[in-house]
Amino acid sequence: MKFFIDTANLEQIKEAQDLGVLDGVTTNPSLMAKEGITGEKNILDHYKAICEIVEGDVSAEVIATDYEGMIKQGEELAALNPQIVVKLPMIEAGVKACKYFSDKGIKTNVTLVFSVGQALLAAKAGASYVSPFLGRLDDISTDGLNLIDEIRTVYDNYGFGTEILAASVRNTMHVVNCAKLGSDVMTGPLSSIKGLLKHPLTDIGLEKFLADYAKGNA
Ligand code: G3P
Repeated sequence: MKFFIDTANLEQIKEAQDLGVLDGVTTNPSLMAKEGITGEKNILDHYKAICEIVEGDVSAEVIATDYEGMIKQGEELAALNPQIVVKLPMIEAGVKACKYFSDKGIKTNVTLVFSVGQALLAAKAGASYVSPFLGRLDDISTDGLNLIDEIRTVYDNYGFGTEILAASVRNTMHVVNCAKLGSDVMTGPLSSIKGLLKHPLTDIGLEKFLADYAKGNA
């Protein structure tokens, strides 16, 4: 499973990259705003800065909600760097724009997906990635993992090449469960990745090894 980090924070992206396990980055307008990145030029420059840190795919979201606007913005984003994946919302114009970019060989990520039907449509439109929002479904007492499972079944039934990018991942167990279900990618905060490191028996075991070594070499 590929690991993407879901942030626009350059320090956190660098930390995940330095860990050696990072495959890409996803962002959205809320995450950009959280870092205080505003204005078209600053946003485009920030995407370029992210691409300099990581080697993999970097999802950059359009703001337009009409087809022509999405094409214009998506082309501007894609021209920044070959790593850019044009992120499009799951609305009618987004599906049409997805088909346009897919026909041109430009990678796409269809976002704000909350149902299997939406994921099927994204795959039909040639999306490179589909982003079901796991955590936001859990937030409303709906099983987000079940959606990942159902999309996996449908994509496997027909051999769709669209990669399932489990998004709105909030914690380490989301990551582990997505891996068990065969999600192709997960995107989450740095804490969801670093949480995988933790086990008390590892810490206790290491402490004992070092104590025994120290005794033997005293
Ligand atoms: O990848 C989508 C993600 O940014 C949404 O996450 O935690 O705001 O639901 P969250």
